[in-house]
Amino acid sequence: MSEHVSDSAEWQALQGHAEKFSAVHLRDLFDSEPQRGERYAAELADLYIDYSKNLVTDEVLSALVALAGRAKLSERITAMFAGEHINVTEDRAVLHTALRLPRDAQLVVDGQDVVADVHEVLDRMGAFADKVRSGEWKGHTGERIKTLVNIGIGGSDLGPVMAYEALKDYTQRDIECRFVSNIDPTDLFEKTRDLDPATTLFIIVSKTFTTQETLTNAAEARSWLLATLKDDAAVAKHFVAVSTNAAKVADFGIDTANMFGFWDWVGGRYSLPSAVGLSVLVAIGKEKFAEMLAGYHAVDEHFRSTPIEQNVPALLGLINVWYDTFLGAQSHAVLPYAQYLHRFAAYLQQLTMESNGKSVRLDGERVAYQTGEVFWGEPGTNGQHAFYQLIHQGTKLIPADFIGFSVPNHDIGEMHDLFMSNFLAQTGALAFGRTLEQVEAEGTKPEVAKHRVMQGNHPTTTILAEKLTPATFGQLVALYEHITFTQGVIWEINSFDQWGVELGKVMANQLAPKLTASDAPADDADSSTNILIKRYRAARGR
Ligand code: F6P
Repeated sequence: MSEHVSDSAEWQALQGHAEKFSAVHLRDLFDSEPQRGERYAAELADLYIDYSKNLVTDEVLSALVALAGRAKLSERITAMFAGEHINVTEDRAVLHTALRLPRDAQLVVDGQDVVADVHEVLDRMGAFADKVRSGEWKGHTGERIKTLVNIGIGGSDLGPVMAYEALKDYTQRDIECRFVSNIDPTDLFEKTRDLDPATTLFIIVSKTFTTQETLTNAAEARSWLLATLKDDAAVAKHFVAVSTNAAKVADFGIDTANMFGFWDWVGGRYSLPSAVGLSVLVAIGKEKFAEMLAGYHAVDEHFRSTPIEQNVPALLGLINVWYDTFLGAQSHAVLPYAQYLHRFAAYLQQLTMESNGKSVRLDGERVAYQTGEVFWGEPGTNGQHAFYQLIHQGTKLIPADFIGFSVPNHDIGEMHDLFMSNFLAQTGALAFGRTLEQVEAEGTKPEVAKHRVMQGNHPTTTILAEKLTPATFGQLVALYEHITFTQGVIWEINSFDQWGVELGKVMANQLAPKLTASDAPADDADSSTNILIKRYRAARGR
């Protein structure tokens, strides 16, 4: 038996399939199998997933499932759900799935009743949300809260802001949420400039409570608040924290009675369904938040218990590996036909790229194959008028996910039908293109005919749900989490650490004094950085 997945016969078999695949066209695959659209599709909770327009055959799918067997994907799924310390470089369990277990489920990890802990925090979050939503929670001057400002970055921002935007239709509209993440002072300025401190509540979200951006923004937010309210006692009414680090929360000056905890087994990019989602919970209310968690859980259960050959997240993850590692794709477009999902690609960038942007295997050896796709995208139809040209007629292989909903949250005239006709037209055009014969038959001038040929054969997956609801939203996010997990297992990397981000944090802290103090040495870094520091200091009069 081979030591590594990439040395296995299963891996070699896929390399063999890849060599043959340059001659395969989606037109031929559909022509030779009229039922392909029905056979290569699956239902996952409320999501209908059509993967027929992918560059796969039964043979390729079987080879990918065999590869998953070689990589022990099923065993790794079991280990994750059981709370084994699969995040080996940080010696931690990976248990975001426990965040959405129902109250009557049972899971004891490292001697701790995880389900009881999760629901204790959810109950506190729900009680807090009830008070803010009803106006029972009063600010320091006795006014009700009108604006929540979530201060956090990375997983402590991207999930909440994406979910808040996605579920805006379900929010209590007299409470607005805003999100400050960047340490660029203009972010805090723009998000607070028209707010009244008396009606503003800050949620400081940081797993570690040591992140420079978040703590700096939080300190400045406190100064902004106190400049008007002029009483330190106001902090208790206008600041709550979400963190795993109670000591640091107390150091910052937030009463830990106003802290909502989570656990080291929740990775930042997987933390939306934990207390990190507090702003979302206040916005949509505890019942809708519970529906979202149930949506996640339905997909978790499918992923945990379904054999790989019918396991939808596993199959989609394997297909991504096929493109990335065997067919040489570099990136993956995510194209939601839902304006409410306009931050979905940004969210997925952290989920997928912080998870699988790794080049060292679990055994410490460097990988000799491609890992981690570049995820990107914009909502349709905006993307159609921007970058789709490159997908249609460019030279790159870019698998794309199309996400759409049959029933709009708001119907205006014929707009949704027109919108969704674009959704359906695009995947057809990408798959089947337009041949020279077809273009010529339309009477196109011979000198431009070749420019109008669409080669087609561009793979897409279509995800269609009836309506964007908290439940379908939770299902969608869980689907991508488990796709990401599957890819990491095949690549034998740890999808749950992020050491690459740490070096930049350390270096920024080292450089900060050089920018602010004119007597600090500006010649002990590299020659490029030295001159940049000098120019910066000159512009700032230092
Ligand atoms: O970007 C690195 C990272 O550690 C992310 O994984 C995390 O989501 C983000 O920083 C914020 O960290 P914290 O929640 O501890 O402030």
